[in-house]
Amino acid sequence: MSTDYPSVGVASGLPRHSFPLRVLHWLIAVLLVFALIGGLTLGTLGHERLVELVGMDMANMAYIAHKTLGITLLGLMVLRLLVRLLQGTPPYAVDLSGFQRFMSRSVHFLLYVLVIAMPIVGWLATAAAGFPINFFTWELPPLIAEDPALAEQLFQAHMIVALCIIALLVLHIGAGLRHKRRGDWVMHRISLSR
Ligand code: HEM
Repeated sequence: MSTDYPSVGVASGLPRHSFPLRVLHWLIAVLLVFALIGGLTLGTLGHERLVELVGMDMANMAYIAHKTLGITLLGLMVLRLLVRLLQGTPPYAVDLSGFQRFMSRSVHFLLYVLVIAMPIVGWLATAAAGFPINFFTWELPPLIAEDPALAEQLFQAHMIVALCIIALLVLHIGAGLRHKRRGDWVMHRISLSR
């Protein structure tokens, strides 16, 4: 699986992720930023303050939008995982150190686990709090019974997972920018350009 190839200064013709996986990567990246910013806004303000600021209808819309976005992300992440497992990943460039390979694999693995766990925890927290699980205009099954004490713990977990995802994104984006500056092949493996 590991066909080594030089990475610096190459122009084209080296292994990349498949086009569907590259589209999923950038779609999920954009939606994840919206889910994090929207969720942090809801969590920081809370329902009452949000209603004061924008009114009941808009506040409810904001919660429905956040839940819909989160569940969409869950579906896209499962699809992405399947595509990745079916197609495998292109080999790394030869001049990535052992440490860089380890960090890259660990950060990617943790991002998959946490971005899949995040909507599941949000779903269970919402259900335990007794709120509806909205997905666009539908209402999905709560999966667990109402339990306010559990809801509080699950919403805390929802926030802690968010902070872990943000920390991983800082590492992930930092590494991406470094590769971009070096002009090596790594960013091209995942870019949407032909
Ligand atoms: C990848 C998907 C998701 C991300 C990145 C995300 C992110 C966040 C973040 C950062 C917060 C703020 C936490 C806090 O400050 O306490 C939050 C709050 C919230 N999330 Fe999510 N979320 C996701 C999916 C979901 C799903 C699927 C649901 C429900 C079906 C959900 C329901 C909620 C609710 C109700 C709040 C408000 C909690 C409160 O008012 O204390 N989230 N979300």
